[in-house]
Parts: sequence; C-alpha cells; structure tokens
Amino acid sequence: MTSITSPQPPVRQLGTGGFAPLRIAEIEALTGDSVALTLGGTEEYGTTFDFRAGQHLTLRREFDGRDVRRSYSLCVPPGAGALRIAVRRIDGGVMSTWLTQEAEIGDEIEVSAPTGDFGRGIAEATGRHVGLIGAGSGVTPLVSLAAAHLNAGPDNTALMVLGNRSSASVMLAEDLYDLKNRYAARMQLVHVFSREQQVADELNGHLDPARITRLLQLFGTPAAVADWYLCGPLPVVDNARTALTDLGVSQAAVHSELFHAGAVARPAEVAGSVAESTIVATLNGRRTTVSMTADNPSILDALLGVRSDAPFACRSGVCGTCRARCVSGEAVMRTNFALGEPEVEAGVILTCQALPASSAVELEYLS
Ligand SMILES: Cc1cc2nc3c(=O)[nH]c(=O)nc-3n(C[C@H](O)[C@H](O)[C@H](O)COP(=O)(O)OP(=O)(O)OC[C@H]3O[C@@H](n4cnc5c(N)ncnc54)[C@H](O)[C@@H]3O)c2cc1C
Ligand code: FES
Repeated sequence: MTSITSPQPPVRQLGTGGFAPLRIAEIEALTGDSVALTLGGTEEYGTTFDFRAGQHLTLRREFDGRDVRRSYSLCVPPGAGALRIAVRRIDGGVMSTWLTQEAEIGDEIEVSAPTGDFGRGIAEATGRHVGLIGAGSGVTPLVSLAAAHLNAGPDNTALMVLGNRSSASVMLAEDLYDLKNRYAARMQLVHVFSREQQVADELNGHLDPARITRLLQLFGTPAAVADWYLCGPLPVVDNARTALTDLGVSQAAVHSELFHAGAVARPAEVAGSVAESTIVATLNGRRTTVSMTADNPSILDALLGVRSDAPFACRSGVCGTCRARCVSGEAVMRTNFALGEPEVEAGVILTCQALPASSAVELEYLS
C-alpha cells in the first residue's frame, strides 16, 4: 500500500540582520505597568526559535526612523509551546512603552533567534538544589529557569527570593503561584516588599546584602545550593553577590544576568588598545575582513559598516548579544557586564565594547 503525504512547506530563513517578522498573538496584563506577550508565527522557521531556559530574544522596531533593539527574556520553560516574554514599562522608554501600551494583537515585530548563556545546563543535572534571586522584571528568566529545573527531575528543589514594591507589582505572579502549587514540597518562594507591610519583619524592605544574608540563612543552608541565579538591575545583582560571597559561596556557583547597568562611565581610552588593526570575522558562515581605524568606537561599529547582520542590542556591554570568540590576535573591552570569568578566559569578547590590541584580530561569532 502506498501512502500519500502532502509536501512540507520549506523552512523559512531569518531575514537580513538575523530577524524574523513575528506576530503578537496574545497580550496579557500582568501588573499596572507590565504585560506578557506571546509571539506567533514561529512554526514557519523550523527549530530557529527553540530555546533553553534563561535565554532572551532581541526585539527590533523602527521608532521615528531609528532602529531600536531591546532584549527580553523568555518567561516560560522550553517545551511550553509558546514564545512568551514579560515586559515592564520604563518611564520614557521607547520599546517598553510601545510593547506595554500601544502594541496590539496582530501587530508584527522583528525578532531574533533566542540567545544567551544564563542558566545553561540548569535542566541537565538532577537531584540539585538551586537558588534564584531577583527583583522587578528580573523575575522573567528566573521563572523559566525554576520551571525547567523543577520539571527536570523529582529530586530537584529550588529557593526563589524576589524583591518588589508590593504584591500588586509582582510580575508573573500567577505563573509563580502555579509553579509553587505544582511543586509545593520542592519550591520555596520568598517575597520581599519595600512598600507593603508583611507579618514577618524580615520580609519588609529592600534586598540589601544584610537582608539577603539573613533570608538565605533563615530559608536553608546556602552551602547546600549547587548554583545561584541572579537577575535584575545592577544594585540587586551586586547585593546578592556580596551576600553570597560573605556566606562563603564560590563565585563559580553564581550566575547573573543584568537588565540594565545604569549610568556607568566607560573609559575613553582602553589600556593596550591599538588605533589600527585588521579585523577578520566569521559570521553566519561567511568570512569578512575590515580595516579598523581610530574613528571606529568599537569592533562592532567597524563590522557593521560592511556586515549589517552583525548581532547587537544594548551596545552597552549588558546583553551579550554581540559576543564573539577571539580566535587569534588580542582585543580589550571597555566594560563587561555580560560575560563570566570562564568565557573571558576562553577568549570571548563583547564586540560592542571591544577594541583591537594587536595588528590583526580574528573573530568567530557565537550566535
Ligand atoms: C539580557 C536582557 C534581558 C532583558 N529582559 C527583560 C525582560 O524580560 N523584561 C523587561 O521588562 N525588560 C528586560 N530587559 C530590559 C529591556 O531590554 C530594556 O532595557 C527595557 O525594556 C527598556 O527599554 P526602553 O526602550 O523602553 O527604554 P530606553 O528608551 O532604552 O530607556 C529609557 C530610559 O530608561 C533607562 N533604562 C533603560 N532600561 C532600563 C531598565 N531595565 N531599568 C531601569 N532603567 C532603564 C535608560 O537609561 C533611559 O534613561 C532585559 C535586558 C537585557 C539586557
Ligand atoms: S550589544 Fe549588548 S553587550 Fe554588546
């Protein structure tokens, strides 16, 4: 017997610059200033939009003729069957205001393939206890990571500590509630509010190092935690790092992702950089050579002159979208909030922050 199968439509490739026009399929109000958005239309792109827990997307849109790109973390675990992000409006923010107040179901937006290393491997080991600390919109990748970890094995456990102004400002509160209900015996969820009184004094205030230290001592043994995941604005991530260091946690067990670094001064001069160099970059399977001069503020800027598909988003060393590995030669960075010590040691650089430190630099893009 012969069976007749209808031909599969060809898998679409990402367009110029590595973006696909996706459709906003669903918008859910989360808090007064945040929404969750589900992006549709990924089926045509095969496995391009498959993701690991903790990864983020770059969304691109033109505003008054300006190409604006911003990163948004996926807030669901892999296999959830949806590409869902959660966005909080920032006062005066171009993209977040559009996404939370103006975007409508059916609107199209350019979206990159998922990227990022935050939480790599979290769902691969079993029988582990992990700690997650975040504040505000920093909860988004933490929900994805916690769900992936708890789904991955019956012995996996998690402690999540979240800082917010009040219960009404907790993003993804329902997702957290569902997770806690589903894994009641395996998940500890601790909410700290700065503008709402709770019965326990320790839960009132900001996530400063002293409070984090006391909470971690109260809610378990920090040494029993295999890995820590921190996410949010710079002060919260710094405070959590300080608390964990004071508690004797090894830096290798602490993983963090920043959403915004604030107004951090970037040095105009970088020790070791050279004014002129030849940059050879392999990106999307194509090798390109470009001469870099003192007029180029970064290796990324030099490359964008000839390769519009060179990936980037924040341009401030925070998101890691522009990372590439230095295969030969040397480069130095103005600042780095995205790469951990092991990546830097392996020669990974943020091209938006990098300047050449040798007469030739060869790079291989990672995303
Ligand atoms: C890896 C990564 C993942 C992210 N994931 C999420 C997410 O899941 N949900 C989410 O809501 N946001 C997330 N962000 C932040 C997001 O990318 C944007 O920075 C944010 O939405 C503001 O963009 P905007 O265009 O609205 O503001 P802009 O127009 O860029 O900025 C307006 C003003 O606000 C300041 N600002 C910009 N971003 C922030 C910020 N995050 N906090 C405080 N001040 C800020 C700017 O310095 C400027 O003064 C993530 C960022 C990174 C790097
Ligand atoms: S573009 Fe965000 S770190 Fe370089």
